Amino acid sequence: MSTKETLIKKFQDKSAKIGILGMGYVGMPLAVVFAEAGFNVLGIDPDQRKTDTFNKNISYIQDVPTETVARLHKGGKLNMTTDFAALGDMDAVSICVPTPLRQTGDPDMSFINSALEQLAKYVHKGMVVVLESTTYPGTTRELMLPKLTEHSGLKIGEDIFICFSPERVDPGRQDRRNYSRVCGGCTSLVCRCH
Ligand SMILES: NC(=O)c1ccc[n+]([C@@H]2O[C@H](COP(=O)([O-])OP(=O)(O)OC[C@H]3O[C@@H](n4cnc5c(N)ncnc54)[C@H](O)[C@@H]3O)[C@@H](O)[C@H]2O)c1
Repeated sequence: MSTKETLIKKFQDKSAKIGILGMGYVGMPLAVVFAEAGFNVLGIDPDQRKTDTFNKNISYIQDVPTETVARLHKGGKLNMTTDFAALGDMDAVSICVPTPLRQTGDPDMSFINSALEQLAKYVHKGMVVVLESTTYPGTTRELMLPKLTEHSGLKIGEDIFICFSPERVDPGRQDRRNYSRVCGGCTSLVCRCH
């Protein structure tokens, strides 16, 4: 079985381990969607206060009830850490870090850059990385691709897979699972999901 087929099978049988890099307004609800769907999810965020609050089974995101966090955490489906080394164990990583606008109107890319630098240490064969942060066209090819392949020697589309799927969350809406999502990759389409 090819790396791609093995990865697809892991998603089909829900054995894929999902990492969410950046557990804020976008990352936490996304982590909950994956965990509710039966995946084991690990949120990775350098903010110690958020991680401590989560570990007390309390939600710090308005759209996510504390009851949901407590249930998924106690059930072992959703965990959270500040330790980036945990990325090495993930099959899929969604990057949900901030991209605040500068005065010039350009996005501040420092959070994406630092997340990619951490990820580059742990990226491995059989990993899919999805960028969900709002950013400029070309970020996948110009920033993600070189950062994740240059030193690892991994081949895009064969060893690892990268994708841009900008978050479309509309705060307050509860039908998050029904959103249509746009996904852009660097290689040809491998499967169509609904
Ligand atoms: N919040 C929304 O309604 C919304 C809607 C559409 C798109 N977006 C976009 O989604 C992205 C995330 O937005 P948000 O509102 O969730 O931001 P947020 O500030 O709520 O959360 C971002 C999280 O990333 C963490 N973080 C910072 N640097 C990190 C790093 N290097 N590695 C891992 N985690 C790191 C922060 O500690 C924080 O918890 C942004 O690009 C934003 O523009 C947000």
